Amino acid sequence: CNSLKEKSRKEILEILCQGLARQEYRGYDSAGLGIDGDKPGEVIFFKEVGKVAGLRKQIASSTVDMNKTFVSQVSIAHTRWATHGVPSKDNCHPLRSDPTAEFCVVHNGIVTNSAALRLVLQKRGYTFESETDTEAVAKLLKYVYDNQADKKNLTFTDLVKSVLKELEGSFAFVFKSTHFPNQIVTARRGSPLLIGVKTDKKLKVDFVDVEFAGQDKDMKVETLQPTSPSALLAPPSANPKVLRTQSRAFMSEDGLPQPIEFFVASDASAVVEHTKRVLYLEDDDIAHIDNGELHIHRLRRKDDRDQSPAQIASTRTIETLEIELAAIMKGKFDHFMQKEIYEQPESVVNTMRGRVNFDTSQITLGGLRAYLPIMRRGRRIVFIACGTSYHSCIATRAIFEELTEIPVSVELASDFLDRKTPIFRDDVCVFLSQSGETADTILALRYCLERGALCVGVVNTVGSTLSRETHCGVHINAGPEIGVASTKAYTSQYIALLMMALQMSEDRISLTERRNQIIAGLLAIPAQIKKVLEMDSAIQQLAQTVAQNKSLLLMGRGFQYATCLEGALKIKEISYMHSEGVSSLVNSNTVLSHSFDENMPVIIIMTQDSLYPKVQSAFAQITARKAQPIVLCNEGDDGIPANAKTIRVPKTVDCLQGMLNIIPMQLLSYHLAVNKGYDVDFPRNLAKSVTTE
Ligand code: G6P
Repeated sequence: CNSLKEKSRKEILEILCQGLARQEYRGYDSAGLGIDGDKPGEVIFFKEVGKVAGLRKQIASSTVDMNKTFVSQVSIAHTRWATHGVPSKDNCHPLRSDPTAEFCVVHNGIVTNSAALRLVLQKRGYTFESETDTEAVAKLLKYVYDNQADKKNLTFTDLVKSVLKELEGSFAFVFKSTHFPNQIVTARRGSPLLIGVKTDKKLKVDFVDVEFAGQDKDMKVETLQPTSPSALLAPPSANPKVLRTQSRAFMSEDGLPQPIEFFVASDASAVVEHTKRVLYLEDDDIAHIDNGELHIHRLRRKDDRDQSPAQIASTRTIETLEIELAAIMKGKFDHFMQKEIYEQPESVVNTMRGRVNFDTSQITLGGLRAYLPIMRRGRRIVFIACGTSYHSCIATRAIFEELTEIPVSVELASDFLDRKTPIFRDDVCVFLSQSGETADTILALRYCLERGALCVGVVNTVGSTLSRETHCGVHINAGPEIGVASTKAYTSQYIALLMMALQMSEDRISLTERRNQIIAGLLAIPAQIKKVLEMDSAIQQLAQTVAQNKSLLLMGRGFQYATCLEGALKIKEISYMHSEGVSSLVNSNTVLSHSFDENMPVIIIMTQDSLYPKVQSAFAQITARKAQPIVLCNEGDDGIPANAKTIRVPKTVDCLQGMLNIIPMQLLSYHLAVNKGYDVDFPRNLAKSVTTE
């Protein structure tokens, strides 16, 4: 955060800690911050392993003067999810260039060539304090700075530009330096980054012009090779042709200097209580904040090279966020996950709002309209996602194929990339992501864009990388999801994909009846979800009975296979109990013969659809092995043996049933975790969105 408004150190620390706490839901293992000291050029650090509460404690017991005020200052803070180096105070960010912290940095992402950089810098006498990839970046800044002959004319931005050119991997950085007091430089490539702008007055312009650096050949940057320590970075001043558009800084309408504050963050939830006006940075943007002004510069990237600056987007607009702070708070619930499970009757309505006309049975997804002809002509549809988002693809694949008559394949983003899967211009690739920031999914998107496929996003987070980089898409509008275990995003993704299939198939007369049946089913779904939620206390009791078991199997087939996978994922994610979702098709040969006995709890999904008779035979086989399955079935189904334990849910159309069936599984995983005393919203070793490969 950088401000041109008087603030006490106490206020500044509170802003930082609160911002960090808002990001806790992503999962992290340590937190740290760096603020201006009492003397010019001094930086004070606080670092703690574990939660932000621990960091707050450390701050509360420190002796620094909390009443000291600043008119202009720069402070940086970070929660870390270990990639290089164990969670420890040493590895906690901000990382510094040297003991006096001439340069310090916070970083999300991974610098993949950090080992080589570390070696070069060590040869030049730098000693490292941490095992992180990030520290090499702080030290490289100092190294380049120290080697500049003309330090007077050196700008912070040019210095950072030189360093970024040496880095491989992904990053969102915020830099602070004692040589450039009260200035921030921040940059991104592959990791999300936004700038919140807060002023009391109206701004004259709500956009920032981008300044372009010159041609790459003018940059004369040599790569640092560990084997050739003499390869020095060319000084930034060796870049004679810098093309500059006239850059506009923010000014109030009356043209007078104004108190202005900037908040740089990776996620809007960290800034939303200070300002709703945010500017999203693009990959290779470098933003410089100084003296109340924001300037955006751009490193030329591969795909920019053939274009003149005029052809590349040359402004970044300030958007007004619609997210309310209350929406990201827990309200009357004990945990975010519980709140989000309970929000589903409304969140599914929000996904359909303005898109489904129940009177005319018409679906209108505005974001896809212009692309529908291409989508309908596609040779195949490829769904690409990770985790829960991947399961929503499996859940809807069959109905997608049935309605569109186009083959659909479902790909786990990482495996899709590992296989270098062939993708063609006439493929339609659909990317599913709650956060819109999952690194593997974004990389898969870029891979498909390069190959000329139509890329469609189905995303919850507005403004996320995925929503910006796809050709078109659908926002699922489920509202912020904070619990690490995804719940309401699943049901909303499910509906979004269904709506997409319904819209793509609207011209198929032969399917009219089927489509009408599904749309009528969608109308009833919110009330049915509400009804399933009423079973909460029965599920809580069930959780008590299975909590002592080591393992829990979920079994089902057809539309319900995805429910088993997703239910088992929820149980594993937050209760750490071993759980597996299996298709009742394979069980007679494998799982069944090995695992089932009277001690193995099995949930078998037997809601009524065309595969019901086959699941019945699986049920018979399990009970023959003395196992006592818990049956998830429809209300009023009298085909289930009277002595069986049941979870009864309302009946809906076969392809919608998974949305109702997953709710008891979400509740079960929630109660299992609470029962075992685990931290439901922040399970250990699990991040909400994995923004590194
Ligand atoms: C991680 C999380 C999962 C999540 C998946 C996809 O693996 O631990 O809970 O489902 O990422 O996240 P996305 O934001 O892309 O839907």
